[in-house]
Amino acid sequence: MPALVLFGGGGDLALRMLLPSLYFLEHDDLLPSGLKIIAAARSEESRDQYLARVREWVQPRAETDDQWSEKAFDHLAGRIDYLAVDATDPESLRALKNKTGDEDVTYFLAVSPSLYAPIVSALNAVGMTGPKTRIVLEKPVGRDLETFRRIDQAVSAAFTEDQVFRIDHYLGKETVQNLIALRFANVIFEPLWNNLSIDHVQITVGETTGVGDRWPYYDEYGALRDMLQNHMLQLLCLVAMEPPSDMDPDSVRNEKVKVLRSLRPITEAVARSVTVRGQYTRGTVEGEAVRAYADERGQASDTDTFVALRADIDNWRWAGVPFFMRTGKRMPAKHTEIVIQFKPVPHSIFDGDGRGDIVANRLVIALQPDEDISLTVMNKAPGLDARMRLQPIRMSLSWGMEGKSARPPRRRIAYERLLLDALNGDSTLFVRCDEAEKAWQWVDGV
Ligand code: BG6
Repeated sequence: MPALVLFGGGGDLALRMLLPSLYFLEHDDLLPSGLKIIAAARSEESRDQYLARVREWVQPRAETDDQWSEKAFDHLAGRIDYLAVDATDPESLRALKNKTGDEDVTYFLAVSPSLYAPIVSALNAVGMTGPKTRIVLEKPVGRDLETFRRIDQAVSAAFTEDQVFRIDHYLGKETVQNLIALRFANVIFEPLWNNLSIDHVQITVGETTGVGDRWPYYDEYGALRDMLQNHMLQLLCLVAMEPPSDMDPDSVRNEKVKVLRSLRPITEAVARSVTVRGQYTRGTVEGEAVRAYADERGQASDTDTFVALRADIDNWRWAGVPFFMRTGKRMPAKHTEIVIQFKPVPHSIFDGDGRGDIVANRLVIALQPDEDISLTVMNKAPGLDARMRLQPIRMSLSWGMEGKSARPPRRRIAYERLLLDALNGDSTLFVRCDEAEKAWQWVDGV
């Protein structure tokens, strides 16, 4: 029987994201038949107490999406067991081994990255890392190149690379996968997708939320390590990579690694001119007074809650096209998007009459708050004016333009896709070891 073990099963990630995702998969009858779910965490609580907590998180979320079903929840609950363990202690893991055996087990580490190596080593020590097991590691894997390598040493001593699933939930977002479809299932963008036609690319992840009580984790990482090293570099790779020969996990990831290898190092000499770091102070966001990061943290700290930088990709396709990346907490609006800014037309035949300037084309891949892909093109303003008047119009390329009455599909949690892929052993949307390593190298400037 397949089993999914959630280490950190009582934590924020598990309750906020993983269990609601498992519920939705259960609701849609997508979980592998017979799958057992074992939530493993340090605190002693009964299975019933744990399930009550799971329900508190899952029900409101499912109700908001109009997907609540007692029957589906009961099915899910029927799969779940709770076990109090110290996962870094091989002795303590024996109780878990008795429940799972070591056949077809997927371990999900929803715990602090500092526990990855000790947990993996403990699993290995009790013989729980057989060839049919898999391990899912939540980002960030490590906090720099050195800690990444240390974790990787422990992981590769216990698992082969095809058993390792480094998760970056941005790759599970529908619109991010849509970017792959847009680029490689259409012929019209590819001839323009280079430095002849594109002026620059902007990747923005703005959040209104602050760090709040996540500071014990966040203070060590900051925006650069929490967001840019992983989510944003993954987006950059998908925009910049060459067409892979197929959707095989290695074909896709080989192309992403080539992009990471081509990133121009940000040396100390240029760092000041191509990077900006910041930290939020107190202020008002969406009409509410909010605290400064230092107040949440309880003391001054130089952790970045905002980072912006210019990345250059030194290859034929992208030479001279800056990729501007920026991300921050406590921004005025929640706003995640990729903007492909095309160059202006080389010569305007409309110049000189003051009848509407030509706005350069722009492709916007919006991820949040709304998901949409839109293209801005110039158009003639209707009318009988003697001289043609121009106006930019935004065309949405998203699903459903033809059938406006159709109801948009429910926006799935990114972890639904990724959990399903990990359980089925498909690693296309996961980060390979050399990708993560290259990303750390670049971020660390080594
Ligand atoms: C997580 C970061 O990986 O992504 C968080 O640790 C961040 O700090 C979150 O808030 C953003 O995810 P999303 O899907 O809301 O953009």
